[in-house]
Amino acid sequence: MSKRQRLDKILSNLGFGTRKEVKDLIKSGAIEIDGVIAKDVGLQVDPLGQNIKVNNKELVYREVIYIMMNKPQGVVSATEDKRDTTVVDLLEDSLQAFQPAPVGRLDKDTEGLLLITNDGQLAHKLLSPKKHVPKTYFAHIEGRVGELDIRAFEQGITLDDGYTTLPAQLKVLTQGEISQVEIIIYEGKFHQIKRMFQAVDKKVVYLKRIAMGRLQLDESLDIGKYRELREDELSLLQDNDGMSN
Ligand code: URA
Repeated sequence: MSKRQRLDKILSNLGFGTRKEVKDLIKSGAIEIDGVIAKDVGLQVDPLGQNIKVNNKELVYREVIYIMMNKPQGVVSATEDKRDTTVVDLLEDSLQAFQPAPVGRLDKDTEGLLLITNDGQLAHKLLSPKKHVPKTYFAHIEGRVGELDIRAFEQGITLDDGYTTLPAQLKVLTQGEISQVEIIIYEGKFHQIKRMFQAVDKKVVYLKRIAMGRLQLDESLDIGKYRELREDELSLLQDNDGMSN
């Protein structure tokens, strides 16, 4: 898909500033198109087929972005919020310019893997209740989690509102007054994991998502940090077979 667009529009869509700021940038001679300095703000450019340099740095043009964030506690999974900082607020301006949104929600106090994208189609596919995309979490649970819980989760848990969840896989990593567990669920009801443990008289005291479909959280990303997905990671999500483990 190669479309010619006005140079000022391309640059402002990529987060180089307002139309006015971009105009000044172009006028200053900072932009080169195929090796020639561009001074015309309305120049028609094919951003995919032509080489664009900004201050001598080649521009990596894209229309969709896919960001993996290691979500910190205390921020909400939304694009904007009156009270709280959102995951989108944490992104640098050049990424916010793409108007991405989080794919689904993690609670304010949940950490871990959150995908943020402006690819609505992929988001829809990942969130569709029919697709049963597995989501893997690591949790600390108040109370001894044991064999009975594993079996109950395998059967599906009836929540406080009467809804019975799909079977979920629960693995006990360490057992104690605080047990460490891994759990895989195939849907995304409101506070689902917390409510599943509540139904077996236990309490989630720490929750972190570590995978969505076959996409794993990059553990080298510090809490609150993010990066764009690599090609191989993106194809894990785009591939229909990549939805389930
Ligand atoms: N289940 C929860 O209870 N909270 C989350 O953030 C995700 C799954």
